[in-house]
Amino acid sequence: MKTIFSGIQPSGTPTIGNYIGAMKQFLALQDQYNCYFCIVDEHAITVPQDRLKLREQTLGLAALYLAIGLDPHRATIFIQSEVSAHAEAAWIVQCNTTIGELERMTQFKDKSQKNGQASVSAALLTYPPLMVADIILYNTDLVPVGEDQKQHLELTRDFTERFNKKYGTENQPLLTKPEVKISKQGARIMSLQDPTKKMSKSDDNAKGYISMLDEPAIIRKKMKAAVTDSSGKIEYDVVNKPGISNLLTIFSAVTDQPISELEAKYSNSGYGEFKADLGEAIVALLEPIQANYHQLLASNELDTLLDQGAEKAALVANKTLQKMKNAVGLGRKSRRKKV
Ligand code: TYM
Repeated sequence: MKTIFSGIQPSGTPTIGNYIGAMKQFLALQDQYNCYFCIVDEHAITVPQDRLKLREQTLGLAALYLAIGLDPHRATIFIQSEVSAHAEAAWIVQCNTTIGELERMTQFKDKSQKNGQASVSAALLTYPPLMVADIILYNTDLVPVGEDQKQHLELTRDFTERFNKKYGTENQPLLTKPEVKISKQGARIMSLQDPTKKMSKSDDNAKGYISMLDEPAIIRKKMKAAVTDSSGKIEYDVVNKPGISNLLTIFSAVTDQPISELEAKYSNSGYGEFKADLGEAIVALLEPIQANYHQLLASNELDTLLDQGAEKAALVANKTLQKMKNAVGLGRKSRRKKV
């Protein structure tokens, strides 16, 4: 069985963008792959976080993973900071990555330009090596993500090639080179308020996104207020009609209906009716997930599952970490202990 790894930051409640771009793929793939789904809390602290809120969101994300239908007995679900191999491997990755490579990452460029380099953490630059570490520790074959993570995956692929060339032998590569899996549709869901900007859980304007825990009344309200255009026709045209095209993409992902079918169905309808129906479709998707979520948080099942997940993940991660340490000459080769 091939292996999947993916992660989501607990830097806010996931949005339907995260669901469509990433979580929906996790669900579809969990039967055919050996899966690791991680709550990447170490990534979240690259920008300031309220510590109590971070803890709450970390547990909340674990609950959401389960609430959407990921099966903890098949997939390994765990918190990044509870498996110390991630931070250790990230150091070795950083030592084998150039500053030039990291400065080229568009996410770093965007965030450091917006806030000024002097005021952002050094970890904003070294964040992709932590992501590389996450992926390689599990001998990952495939990484399902949204489009914004593509460049980080290219970095991971370059890194494994370079590391294998430097430290491995041709017949025995040390690290697995992963493939990226980006869905054809829904890989970049846009903000409801500005369809030229990616929908993001850390957007200051909450009207720009639908959080997976938004109440039905809020979802309906946000959909109603979603930006469209003045033509009034429901057709998919990303260049000229980015707002309605984004809504069509969301509708299609949420109901599994092709965009062409939706266009035909709503060919004589106005934006109001379309947006109201989409609001209902999102409520129908999220209501049962939210019920599962609240039930899980009220039980103490979650802690046990996360303990088991971290234990299972550490077994695999520590083996790869030891291989990396041996390759670069860290510690004593004979000492193989590690928890
Ligand atoms: P994060 O937490 O920003 O997003 C989690 C996942 O959701 C996808 N995504 C979207 N997809 C479609 N439309 C959107 N508007 C949208 N916004 C987010 C992201 O592409 C991602 O797949 N660095 C990663 C987390 C990470 C990771 C990893 C992922 C850390 N280590 C290893 C894969 C493998 C991040 O910040 O994702």
